[in-house]
Amino acid sequence: MRIAVIAGDGIGKDVTAEAVKVLKSVGETFGRRFDVEHLPWSADHYLTTGETLPANGYQMLREFDAIFVGALGDPRVPDNRHAREILLGTRFELDLYVNYRPVRLLDDRLSPLKNRGRKDINFVVFRENTEGVYVSVGGRFKAGTDDEIAIQEEINTYKGVHRIIKHAFEFAKTNGLTRVCMADKSNAMQQGHALWQRVFKEVSALYPGVTATHQYIDALAMFLMKDPGQYQVIVTNNLFGDIVTDIGGALQGGLGMAASGNIHPGKTSLFEPVHGSAPPLAGKNVANPIGAILSTALMLETLGARDESRAIEDAVEASIAADQTTTDIGGTLGTRETGEALAARLKEWAAA
Ligand SMILES: NC(=O)c1ccc[n+]([C@@H]2O[C@H](COP(=O)([O-])OP(=O)(O)OC[C@H]3O[C@@H](n4cnc5c(N)ncnc54)[C@H](O)[C@@H]3O)[C@@H](O)[C@H]2O)c1
Repeated sequence: MRIAVIAGDGIGKDVTAEAVKVLKSVGETFGRRFDVEHLPWSADHYLTTGETLPANGYQMLREFDAIFVGALGDPRVPDNRHAREILLGTRFELDLYVNYRPVRLLDDRLSPLKNRGRKDINFVVFRENTEGVYVSVGGRFKAGTDDEIAIQEEINTYKGVHRIIKHAFEFAKTNGLTRVCMADKSNAMQQGHALWQRVFKEVSALYPGVTATHQYIDALAMFLMKDPGQYQVIVTNNLFGDIVTDIGGALQGGLGMAASGNIHPGKTSLFEPVHGSAPPLAGKNVANPIGAILSTALMLETLGARDESRAIEDAVEASIAADQTTTDIGGTLGTRETGEALAARLKEWAAA
């Protein structure tokens, strides 16, 4: 399998080194070859060369089996132009419309909620990934003056809303799940979210074995804190999905634990931890690499390497149970030592 790796900025570099280590280890364990090609696209590269990604960059990416990204964002590039072109650009250009973000608590001790543990925190969020308010349609008039007007449009298309909702129901059906909850703000956003309402009704009618419920996004944010056990599959738009999956990260023990896939089923897809580049932690050997490592497991699952994916997840769970983790989740190890412990565990299992 040919994998493009964009470590990016800040802790993206730190966690990617460990994700690649674990990927190589699982490859050796299962006798599978991963050809990893490192692409230098980052703030450093942009500041040195003036290039965010090459003119044929998106085409280059399409030729890999999958793409792995650490994180992008650097205070030296205040408008984050490089991050927008590399990450958002790839999501749009490769039409990666499914943002797949599992929220699964791996150890009761990591739960931030009183009396809620593993049995209560285990659901999946599907975030629409190519539309909404992130398409940068709009403009600023009289910018910088007291008369400034800023317009940021939200785009919702029938095709875009339909395919993400359909994907959520198909996922539920394929995985034996019985509940899908759609979250919008159709009470206040009466045009765009009326479309979400219409499509949700249409698609849910095709899945009589799945209970379809709806919550306004503000209520959903509250219920994620009070009663996360009610959710199996959540589907929502780009902005709301971005926000609720940070809550999801917290429910898993912290942002450093959360993994994600940006997927176009059957085509080259991109996998990355949910967190950003956390500049204050960069290069200090403290960032938690588990979100990045679990993102490689999602990548392998999507590529059909299910045993390899499961082995990584099992190794992560065992490492957490043995406190072989970074300090943000209660361990004593650094980023590198956490990755090395996981890689060693996979090799030990292979030898056993
Ligand atoms: N997908 C991405 O590449 C992505 C996502 C979010 C933010 N960003 C960018 O990252 C930069 C920093 O953004 P931010 O500070 O708002 O968010 P962030 O996710 O980088 O960090 C927020 C806080 O979460 C904690 N954290 C995050 N990841 C961690 C890890 N692996 N281990 C331990 N703790 C961790 C830290 O306390 C950190 O200060 C910005 O430039 C932003 O645009 C990029």
